[in-house]
Amino acid sequence: MKIKVSPSLLSCDFSRLGEEIQNVVKAGADMVHCDVMDGHFVPNITFGPPVLASMRRHCEALLDVHLMITDPERYAEDFINAGADIITFHVEACRHPLRLISKIQDMGCKAGVVLNPGTPEDELEYLAGAVDMVLLMSVNPGFGGQSFIPETLQKIANVRAMLGDERDLEVDGGIDERTAAQVIQAGANVLVAGAYVFRHHSYLEAIETLKTAGE
Ligand code: DX5
Ligand code: ZN
Repeated sequence: MKIKVSPSLLSCDFSRLGEEIQNVVKAGADMVHCDVMDGHFVPNITFGPPVLASMRRHCEALLDVHLMITDPERYAEDFINAGADIITFHVEACRHPLRLISKIQDMGCKAGVVLNPGTPEDELEYLAGAVDMVLLMSVNPGFGGQSFIPETLQKIANVRAMLGDERDLEVDGGIDERTAAQVIQAGANVLVAGAYVFRHHSYLEAIETLKTAGE
């Protein structure tokens, strides 16, 4: 499968948000990962629909919106109207995940579910057939720059078997050149990377290194 990279803006220079997006897209990013945190589901707060809408006005890149919020049912529509191309929400935060998946898809947006490191993949049993993508957290969500949790590798292999070879399996947290090779080997094809890309002296080199890490 084609390996895609989705740089996480959490580690970018927010005072130059538009420019940072343009620079990673120019450097080969396949999509741009937007981490939405509410201070309830995770102990950190980032941005909401108005900021996403202004990003949308200044770029054509695919916006990969990761909702780390309680009650995603209440806000998904606002993020779609703001211009999200794909929305992923946490199963731990949602009472009726199948209903929310359909609602997002009916609005013309792609829908995916996210599992925290401590959530077993059994949660996907009745959802896997409906989603466009699965996102597996390889750190506990909330902050950039944390270390990759190696137990995620077996989970990636199990979820890849559930999804088949057509659909995207994204991994988020602690991805660098070494862990990228491991997650690709296990079956992931979309790599989120925040600190690794934005702290690299060359975004181009960072993204290229991640894309070819499994070769
Ligand atoms: C963590 C976020 C990630 C984060 C990843 O809660 O969901 O997207 O930015 O950052 P790195 O790649 O630095 O671990
Ligand atoms: Zn994320």
